[in-house]
Amino acid sequence: MTPLVIAIDGPSGAGKGTLARRLAAHLGFRHVDTGAMYRAVAWKALHDGLALDDEAALAALAAAATIGQEGAVVTIDGHEVTRAIRTPDMDQAAARVARLPAVRAVLVERQRGLGRGGGVVMEGRDIGTVVFPDAAVKVYLDASAVERARRRADDEAHTGRQAGLDRLQVDMAARDQSDSTRAVAPLQMAPGAVYVDTTGLDAEQVFERVRGLVAGAGLGKASRDQ
Ligand code: DC
Repeated sequence: MTPLVIAIDGPSGAGKGTLARRLAAHLGFRHVDTGAMYRAVAWKALHDGLALDDEAALAALAAAATIGQEGAVVTIDGHEVTRAIRTPDMDQAAARVARLPAVRAVLVERQRGLGRGGGVVMEGRDIGTVVFPDAAVKVYLDASAVERARRRADDEAHTGRQAGLDRLQVDMAARDQSDSTRAVAPLQMAPGAVYVDTTGLDAEQVFERVRGLVAGAGLGKASRDQ
């Protein structure tokens, strides 16, 4: 049977994390932040002194690493990296790592393993297109560039907000460009995904909107055991 997965994709700052956490808590599902996996691999690569374009070494690292996500806490090989992976430098490093096909292949397999049992809300860039194309519900979250930069600036988990809104917007545009134009699994809307523009909506309104979609797909609170 197809595992019960809710896929949430979209660019940075669209509100994926807030929505995915909320939805997972509501449904009693597990929340998997796949961006944190790319970030953790990038962090460990730098920690180990690997070059970020050494594809074979990074893929080996991604395959061998123990990556943990418990609530908001992220660990890799025993290092607690929750805050360390959300700096401007790590934004860039993670985007570079995410361009490497061999690393993606390893992490996609790991993500499929995490979702295999169902009961998962998974957020990223390619969940509905590549990781779980048969996901029960697929959402593509978006927002205007200005609003996404503003949210990122207000994000407690993200350090470096002193950079200022203009800088953030420029950096974000560069990463979105990298995520959308890379050869493997570029950010794009999956067939069957519902496009939700969150510009001008607060977290509660976005949650209500998607909760409606989830309920419409026949998934309610009691759906975990199906
Ligand atoms: O969502 P995020 O900003 O934490 O993601 C970090 C980087 O990883 C970002 O450049 C997008 C990339 N990513 C990806 O390519 N595929 C995913 N499923 C998740 C993230």
